[in-house]
Amino acid sequence: MLEVDDSVVRQTLETNFFGALHLIQAAVPLMKKHRYGRIVNVSSGLGTYQAFDVLPELKGQSGAYRLSKALLNYLTRLAAQEVDGREIKINAVCPGSVRTDMGGEDAPLSVEEGADTAVWLALIGADGPNGGFFRYRMKAEW
Ligand SMILES: NC(=O)c1ccc[n+]([C@@H]2O[C@H](COP(=O)([O-])OP(=O)(O)OC[C@H]3O[C@@H](n4cnc5c(N)ncnc54)[C@H](OP(=O)(O)O)[C@@H]3O)[C@@H](O)[C@H]2O)c1
Repeated sequence: MLEVDDSVVRQTLETNFFGALHLIQAAVPLMKKHRYGRIVNVSSGLGTYQAFDVLPELKGQSGAYRLSKALLNYLTRLAAQEVDGREIKINAVCPGSVRTDMGGEDAPLSVEEGADTAVWLALIGADGPNGGFFRYRMKAEW
């Protein structure tokens, strides 16, 4: 992080943070009108405080990405606080390590497995969570 190029940080925040922020800002008024909505922010465990303890080997790596996901997590909490949590639900998910272009071919989870928690959160009922962070359909530490 101490040596990362400014342009990398800005571009990463544009996509991973501002992209989500602008989409939430555009979608929530419509959701309020219809008194129903589900937003699932696809985040990462790499954006959590836990990652510092669990993955110390990441020191000096992926700083812009981790920062962008930490902001996305915080955005999830802020936005969730501003909606009626029974009608509209805004949660974040860590898909796990998934076999995509990003995760690579050796990642343990298929795309279907990686999408499972996000789909579950997109379909939760009125009693489901709002403002949470989930992995494998379970609450995860921020
Ligand atoms: N794969 C994992 O193990 C893993 C782990 C934790 C979290 N995640 C999260 O899961 C999400 C999906 O990741 P993935 O594994 O599917 O990654 P991926 O295979 O690299 O796909 C990323 C997708 O994002 C699109 N994209 C990138 N920059 C964009 C921009 N500025 N505007 C619009 N679209 C843009 C890419 O579009 P193009 O194809 O057009 O470039 C691509 O379709 C990401 O948020 C990632 O952080 C993934």
